[in-house]
Amino acid sequence: MEQVFAPVVFNRHLTGDYWLVEVEAPIVAGSLLPGQFVNIRIEGSVAPYLRRPFSVYRVSRDRRRLQLAYKIMGEGTRLMTTTLRENGRCDLLGPLGHGFSLPADAKRIAVVGRGIGIAALPTLVDAAAIRGIEVHGFLSARTKPNLVALDIFAEHGFPVVTHTDEAGMNRLVTDGLADLAGKLEFDAFYVCGSNRLARALHALAQKRGVPAEIAMEQHMACGFGDCHGCVIPVNLRSPKGEKAFREVCHYGPVFQTWEVVDASA
Ligand SMILES: Cc1cc2nc3c(=O)[nH]c(=O)nc-3n(C[C@H](O)[C@H](O)[C@H](O)COP(=O)(O)OP(=O)(O)OC[C@H]3O[C@@H](n4cnc5c(N)ncnc54)[C@H](O)[C@@H]3O)c2cc1C
Ligand code: FES
Repeated sequence: MEQVFAPVVFNRHLTGDYWLVEVEAPIVAGSLLPGQFVNIRIEGSVAPYLRRPFSVYRVSRDRRRLQLAYKIMGEGTRLMTTTLRENGRCDLLGPLGHGFSLPADAKRIAVVGRGIGIAALPTLVDAAAIRGIEVHGFLSARTKPNLVALDIFAEHGFPVVTHTDEAGMNRLVTDGLADLAGKLEFDAFYVCGSNRLARALHALAQKRGVPAEIAMEQHMACGFGDCHGCVIPVNLRSPKGEKAFREVCHYGPVFQTWEVVDASA
C-alpha cells in the first residue's frame, strides 16, 4: 500500500449520477489486482474528515493510470467533482484489500452488479478478457443512465443483460443468469452492489456447484485494517460453523458468498 499525490488527468461527468476521474498513479495501478480499491482524501477541506473508499474502475494498458467511477452520494463525492481538477492532484492510498480470484482453468464466468457495485466489475472483466475467459454481464440500476460500464463489455464483445427499476420488471437480473446457467456451463460467479442479488446468486451458485464471490461495501475509515470500523459478521469455515467479525477493508472487500450471505456472529 502506498500514499500518492496522483496528478489528475481528467475528472468529468460519466453518465447518470456518475463521474469518472483518471489519475496518474503508476505505483498503485502497476500492482493493482481486480476488485482492489483505493481510499481518497479531499485535500484542503476538513470535511469530510475521513477518506472515502472507491473501487478502481479501470487501469490503463501501460498500467500507469487508473480510473474511478463515482456516484455523487454526499459531501465527499460532491467535493470530488470540484476539487479533483485537471492538472491538480488526488491524495490516495492503495491498492487496498483483497480482490477477486479467477479459477485457474476458467472458460466462462458471469458477473452481476447493481448501482455503485457495477464500478467494481470492469477490472475483473478486463483481467478475464486477457486470459481468454468469456464473460456474461448482468447489470441492474435505478435508471438507464446509471448502467455504467456497458461500453467496456461491448469493447470485449461480451453479452450483457440489463434491468432498470424504471422498466418496472418483476424479475431479478439474476433470473436471466439462472435461465442461461441451465444451458451453458459457468466456472465462477461474481456479484456486487445488492444484498438481494447476492442472496439470489449464492443460491444459484450452490444449486449449480459453482464458486461465487461478492465485493462488499461498508462505511470505512483507515481502509487497511487498523481502526476496526468496517467489521461485518462472517462464517469462518462453513455456513453452519463458527462465526466471527472481520474487517471488510482487510479481509475483503471480496469474500466468498458463503462467508457473508446469512452470516451472523
Ligand atoms: C470497498 C468499497 C468500494 C467502493 N467503490 C465505489 C465506487 O467504485 N464508486 C462509488 O461511487 N462508490 C463506491 N463506494 C461507496 C463510496 O465509498 C461512498 O459512496 C462514499 O464514501 C460516499 O461518500 P460521501 O462523503 O459522498 O457520502 P456520505 O455523506 O458519507 O454519505 C452519503 C450517503 O451514502 C451512504 N454511504 C456512504 N458510504 C457508503 C458505503 N460505503 N456503503 C453504503 N452506503 C454508504 C451514507 O450512509 C449516506 O446515506 C465504495 C465503497 C467501498 C467500501
Ligand atoms: S476501515 Fe479501518 S479497519 Fe477497515
